[in-house]
Amino acid sequence: MTEAWINQVFCEDALAGLARIPDGSIDLILTDPPYNLGKDYGNASDQQTVDEYLRWTEQWIDAALPKLKPNGSLYIFLTWRFSPEIFVLLKKRMTMMNEIIWDRRVPSMGGSVRSYSSVHDTIGFFVRRKDYYFDLDAVRIPYDAETKKARSRSIFVGAKWLEVGYNPKDLWSVSRLHREHPERADHPTQKPLEIIERMVKASCPPGGVVLDLFMGSGTTAIAAKRCGRDFVGFELNPDYCAIIAERIAALDAPPPPPEKKKPVPRSSKKPAVKRTATTP
Ligand SMILES: C[S@@+](CC[C@H](N)C(=O)[O-])C[C@H]1O[C@@H](n2cnc3c(N)ncnc32)[C@H](O)[C@@H]1O
Repeated sequence: MTEAWINQVFCEDALAGLARIPDGSIDLILTDPPYNLGKDYGNASDQQTVDEYLRWTEQWIDAALPKLKPNGSLYIFLTWRFSPEIFVLLKKRMTMMNEIIWDRRVPSMGGSVRSYSSVHDTIGFFVRRKDYYFDLDAVRIPYDAETKKARSRSIFVGAKWLEVGYNPKDLWSVSRLHREHPERADHPTQKPLEIIERMVKASCPPGGVVLDLFMGSGTTAIAAKRCGRDFVGFELNPDYCAIIAERIAALDAPPPPPEKKKPVPRSSKKPAVKRTATTP
């Protein structure tokens, strides 16, 4: 029997909602909490005093960690503003494996004038035990054709490392989602699926469960589903909950039939415009 809380995003406060989830049932906590930078999520979660914010962060971390299996992992998105304090807090409870830098590939246009423009998010990767689940093969990055060609000498033929690709590094350059991006939903801090799916594939076994306490537009749920994992999570803002429901429904919907090309009557075919020196 499927548990009632599996594959659900509850439109409620994460701290209250965690009571629904049994202890030791989660393979991966992958979460992107408010950074406390003053954003408007339709609630005051990103507009707390520093003391309130750090106290609240400690509270939800202590409520969430018992839900994790002993060989489970946690990824947390932050920025440099509060990652030092929150990493210290987590290091008292878990082992820190990586600080991953997400380079958002912000184009060089203007920016800060009295400091350096911040163009990255900071992600902490933590585990509980030495035998934590980690599937490197699932997230190796294929070598490009040029590198493969450069290693085409006979000594490299059949070299496993060349075929399976290289191990991802801790600097991830993935463009943020522009307004026009096909993946983009109406949420101010939506994360790209490419990043979330890499974490899911590496740190949650197939069929396992991913918990995101702060679902936003539901990226973690979508990534989990696309990768054959289960999910559970929470989101306070009902408008974002509606977006999550829509995104999940779109995944379940059958793909639209391919559009049939209408034959163009010969006479209505427009002559191709040939650009010449006189064409304006
Ligand atoms: C940084 S955003 C998450 C964005 C998400 N990763 C995505 O890709 O769309 C944080 C979200 O947490 C929600 N939130 C804030 N406090 C919450 C709480 N106590 N319980 C549940 N959700 C909360 C906010 O409404 C906001 O949508």
